[in-house]
Amino acid sequence: MVPLLAPSILSANFTDIAGAVRLIESTGSDWIHLDIMDGSFVPPITFGSQMLADIRSITSLPLDVHLMIDRPERHVESFCAAGADYLTVHAEASVHLHRILQSIRDLGVKPGVSIVPSTPVDGISEILSEVDLVLVMSVNPGYGGQKIIPSTLAKVERLVRIREERSLSYKISIDGGVNRTTIEDVRKSGVDVIVAGSAFFNAEDSAAEVAILRGH
Ligand code: DX5
Ligand code: ZN
Repeated sequence: MVPLLAPSILSANFTDIAGAVRLIESTGSDWIHLDIMDGSFVPPITFGSQMLADIRSITSLPLDVHLMIDRPERHVESFCAAGADYLTVHAEASVHLHRILQSIRDLGVKPGVSIVPSTPVDGISEILSEVDLVLVMSVNPGYGGQKIIPSTLAKVERLVRIREERSLSYKISIDGGVNRTTIEDVRKSGVDVIVAGSAFFNAEDSAAEVAILRGH
């Protein structure tokens, strides 16, 4: 199966987000990935639910919201109300992961869980049946344009096997360091969704880059 492509607006010019959304749409990309950072779970601060609501108002593409924030339970409601399709929280950011994931589903949004490179797949084993998306961080979260950590691809392969063994149906996405050099290994891992920030927005021709990432 050809993976879905989710450009991350983290690498866009924040003075022209509407332009970034139009560019993503014009390339035929599948989802829009939004990186929410709070200056605590990760050092940078990006943007909040108002930005999400504004983007929601100008596109019908699925919005894949990646919360890199501490104690995400404080903000689940506002991001769900703002129009997230997938809302992903970090396993490392809250003790009561199961409760958060259920509250996201109760609000009519697809729950996702993410793990940083140092967290093993075993750390989320108990809640895999609760999620629609598992986001494997292939760099340490916080910044675009970093180099992929190759060992994280083995986690994707493991998640593919577990899904099969337990007859689960979550999608698996990979986030960080995906570009024309790494795409072949990434695709071989069996991943369903590819997040690409700098590869997409720093490309001279984003449509051509999308074609390469899709393997055309
Ligand atoms: C990093 C973010 C990523 C980021 C990826 O913490 O979660 O979504 O945009 O950027 P690239 O594709 O440049 O590695
Ligand atoms: Zn992300």
